[in-house]
Amino acid sequence: MLVVDKGNVWLDQVFQKITDKMDWVSDKSQDKIPYTTIKGTHDDRAVQNPSGDNEDGINWWTNGFWGGMLWQMYHVTGHEKYKQYANFAEDKLDACFAQFYGLHHDVGFMWIPTSVANYQLTQNPASRKRALHAANLLAGRYNPVGQFIRAWNDLPEGDTRGWAIIDSMLNIPLLYWASAETGDPRFRHIAERHADTVMNTFVRPDGSVHHIVQFDPFLGNAVKTYGGQGYENGSSWTRGQTWGLYGFMMSYQHTGNEKYLHTAKQIAHYFIANIPDNGIIPVDFRQPKEPTYEDSTAAAIAACGLIEISKVVGAYEKDLYLRAALKLLRTLDEQRTDWSTNCDCILQNGSAAYHNSTHHQSIIYGDYYFIEAILKLKGNDLYFW
Ligand code: GLY
Repeated sequence: MLVVDKGNVWLDQVFQKITDKMDWVSDKSQDKIPYTTIKGTHDDRAVQNPSGDNEDGINWWTNGFWGGMLWQMYHVTGHEKYKQYANFAEDKLDACFAQFYGLHHDVGFMWIPTSVANYQLTQNPASRKRALHAANLLAGRYNPVGQFIRAWNDLPEGDTRGWAIIDSMLNIPLLYWASAETGDPRFRHIAERHADTVMNTFVRPDGSVHHIVQFDPFLGNAVKTYGGQGYENGSSWTRGQTWGLYGFMMSYQHTGNEKYLHTAKQIAHYFIANIPDNGIIPVDFRQPKEPTYEDSTAAAIAACGLIEISKVVGAYEKDLYLRAALKLLRTLDEQRTDWSTNCDCILQNGSAAYHNSTHHQSIIYGDYYFIEAILKLKGNDLYFW
């Protein structure tokens, strides 16, 4: 039986490295909302664009993760500076509501780690209002005929009225939260109908998942799949697998419905079976052997989902999920972290998409989920999903 207890030396050391690095970099980047690093220094996505619809600026989908890291550190250390910096980052996101056109289904990723976290910790009424505002925007993207939440706004390359994507499973917890908070079941109804659609159309018999499924927005039937950020249509984008794994676990946590736990486990088993011996996760499990593109962020997100599954299963199964999570996290710590002051991010070798021109960069959600996973092992994460 594998136990990660409080006396675990490795865990205590990683936790210490996280607190040291966050203590330093939170002061250094307190005025920014970082996404990646440029020559080791955090960039800043909290920038405005006069056109008001700049998705890469203040509306960028990852702009909640920096706040999430700060709230995790506030929760675990009690240091007031983290709260102050997190509030500062959350306030900046109000510009997105005013601009509106740059927002899409990723409002969950943006306002769960910021406003939901803040409200959970401080009962700040402004945070509650922001999170409810975001939940209403997300609910407004629901297509009742197809029973799916539309993912993105139209892309330069075409019409996406019928597109849903696996990442959505991390956005719908905002809807579960809104129903619990207001007592109005509408939000939860939408989340469950969407989760059912994703379960029935994205998850393949072997436990792998599609990134994108296109529905007919008028008739509701699924018409096409896309490889999206993975290698090709029908391949297996690893971060997408982790959004499914962790996301279905969240739907189980919010509803108690066993079918979502079963789906999370199905995806987890596929993921675990495909973890290479060296513990380094590729961008796509079905990519060619060369080039050896990898994505550290997928490893961190998978670890979070696996740890959550391990909490609700029996002793024998628990070992399977925890062992896999530990392999991923130990590999990241030993081979894919930079704890020095040469780089503002912690994780190295994240990849946003297989066909992007840039690979192996630091990406803020890699750091976020790595911290969340380590705090889970410590039994002290702030759980707001
Ligand atoms: N949600 C988009 C991504 O995972 O890159």
